[in-house]
Amino acid sequence: MKKVLKLILLLTIFLWSEQGYAAELKNGAELKKCTTCHGKPGFSKVLENGKILDLYIDEKILRNSVHGKKECTDCHVDITEIPHRGEIKAVNCSKQCHFIGNTSGAPQTDKYIEYKNSVHGKEFFAGNKKAPVCQDCHGTHNIFKPSNGLSQVSRHNLPRTCAKCHLNIYIEYKESIHGVMFEKGNKDVPVCTNCHGEHNIRRPEDPLSTVSKGNTAFACSKCHSKVEIMKKYGIETEQVETFKESFHGVASEFGSKTVANCASCHGVHDIRPSTDQKSSINKANIPKTCGKCHPGANINFAKGKIHVNPKVKEAGIIYYVSQGFKWLTILTMVGLVTHIFLDLYRRKARSKETE
Ligand code: HEC
Ligand code: HEC
Ligand code: HEC
Ligand code: HEC
Ligand code: HEC
Ligand code: HEC
Ligand code: HEC
Ligand code: HEC
Repeated sequence: MKKVLKLILLLTIFLWSEQGYAAELKNGAELKKCTTCHGKPGFSKVLENGKILDLYIDEKILRNSVHGKKECTDCHVDITEIPHRGEIKAVNCSKQCHFIGNTSGAPQTDKYIEYKNSVHGKEFFAGNKKAPVCQDCHGTHNIFKPSNGLSQVSRHNLPRTCAKCHLNIYIEYKESIHGVMFEKGNKDVPVCTNCHGEHNIRRPEDPLSTVSKGNTAFACSKCHSKVEIMKKYGIETEQVETFKESFHGVASEFGSKTVANCASCHGVHDIRPSTDQKSSINKANIPKTCGKCHPGANINFAKGKIHVNPKVKEAGIIYYVSQGFKWLTILTMVGLVTHIFLDLYRRKARSKETE
């Protein structure tokens, strides 16, 4: 009796699951076709160089991604046969969907076009196999909105995504004040893209780069001239103003490429506070930092402080010199105006005399 019951139970389960399978096939017949093979964990192939290429696709990741409603073949357009024959080409995001005027539901933005003129795009189109395409930064089946912490380009993951190819810079950045605070979860410090941009990253030598010689001060001042950010850390915001008024700042405004900008004194990816012994602006390192361009600079070279605001008394002699010039200018102007009036008065008086 027990045996018969067990058999009936098993039969029901079997029929029920078969039915379920059939229903699923109807809904996503194509997907099922692909996942029959690619849905098996461990499904892989051995490449010619001996490495193993994982061909297992976790469908759940794709379904939760921004492309959750896409079929496998919406992206893998050249897969028309099973088993596949011939070479399978890489998915081309910008050609297939991500262009202005697309009908696939991809965002209509000219941001992707910027990629073409970026250093990465230029290198890619010139045949550099190491240059990143969309999927190198964004992922493949695991593409999420940048606001989602799972995204490779979310603020949280971004430095590590760039580090896949720019490891040495990442290591320097990690030890800088910005990188150390980033690791602690600080939201105000810059990650790579705050200084470099995203799809429009260019070489520093390119005048259009956000970090070109002429634009670096602007990149730093996005944060360092904002009182609401800097007051939290007790950092002066005058640095930007005083730089602009300094010899270096004025000269660079006039297009000089040889004077110092923020990065020539502070470093780039290794920026540290002056109290840090390894900082380029630590007192002991001033001769080396200024000496790059001012041969023979000694420890007192930056004395009187480099970011002096001539408008405050703490600037010492510079304050008095600047005040002196201010009063000299005022007195000269007053003198000049008085002279003009006296002259006019005399002319008028004389013309009255001759009448
Ligand atoms: C019968 C099993 C099977 C089915 C079904 C199948 N594939 Fe494959 N797929 C393979 C095998 C095996 C390879 C490796 C073939 C090779 O490179 O020679 C592969 C390779 C691929 C690759 C290329 C990986 C690479 O970079 O070399 C893609 C992309 C792919 N399949 C997508 C799909 C899609 C999309 C579908 C559904 C339309 C699908 N596959 C259905 C077995 C299958
Ligand atoms: C949003 C577009 C998109 C969709 C949808 C998509 N793929 Fe992919 N897939 C990619 C990209 C991008 C790659 C990376 C290789 C490349 O550039 O072609 C990739 C790679 C692969 C690979 C090679 C192994 C790997 O991880 O690099 C296989 C196999 C594959 N996809 C199968 C599938 C299957 C099966 C589905 C459906 C369940 C699917 N893909 C859906 C974009 C997509
Ligand atoms: C060098 C890395 C990199 C490359 C290459 C790249 N992107 Fe991006 N992309 C980013 C970053 C970083 C963001 C995040 C911007 C943000 O935080 O809002 C982004 C944002 C996006 C967004 C906006 C998402 C949203 O919801 O706001 C889209 C769409 C996008 N990229 C598509 C592409 C396409 C298509 C390509 C290829 C032509 C591409 N990206 C190449 C780094 C890259
Ligand atoms: C898949 C690899 C890859 C990824 C990911 C990548 N890059 Fe690059 N990047 C390159 C290559 C290759 C070049 C060209 C190097 C060369 O020719 O000097 C380059 C060039 C650059 C340059 C110009 C370098 C120079 O010397 O002029 C900058 C700046 C840059 N990348 C920043 C970034 C940032 C920021 C990210 C992350 C958002 C990033 N890259 C992600 C590979 C990558
Ligand atoms: C505080 C702003 C800032 C941050 C954050 C930043 N960079 Fe830079 N980066 C610069 C500046 C400025 C230059 C130009 C230096 C020069 O003129 O030589 C530069 C140059 C570069 C270069 C090309 C020159 C070189 O040194 O090889 C690469 C590549 C680069 N950065 C990648 C990155 C990556 C990757 C990250 C994140 C880990 C990052 N940067 C974070 C400001 C920044
Ligand atoms: C996205 C905003 C942002 C950008 C861009 C930025 N910084 Fe910062 N920086 C910060 C914040 C926030 C701190 C304070 C971190 C802390 O002390 O916790 C800081 C700290 C510093 C410090 C250390 C100050 C101290 O006394 O501790 C220096 C020096 C510095 N930055 C220089 C620069 C330079 C030079 C650039 C441009 C190449 C730059 N920063 C770009 C946000 C930024
Ligand atoms: C000619 C070299 C030079 C240039 C250019 C320069 N700085 Fe400085 N900076 C210094 C020195 C030296 C100090 C150390 C304190 C002082 O003397 O004021 C300093 C201090 C700072 C501090 C306080 C850090 C600390 O730990 O005391 C910040 C923030 C800062 N600079 C940001 C900037 C920004 C932003 C720019 C560009 C707009 C810039 N600096 C341009 C040399 C320079
Ligand atoms: C990237 C190169 C560079 C760096 C680094 C640099 N300077 Fe300069 N500086 C220049 C150039 C170029 C001039 C203008 C040429 C000249 O007449 O000397 C100049 C001019 C000056 C002037 C005004 C002109 C003069 O000769 O009296 C002072 C003051 C000065 N620098 C101080 C400093 C201090 C202090 C540091 C280090 C904290 C420093 N500089 C770092 C390139 C640099």
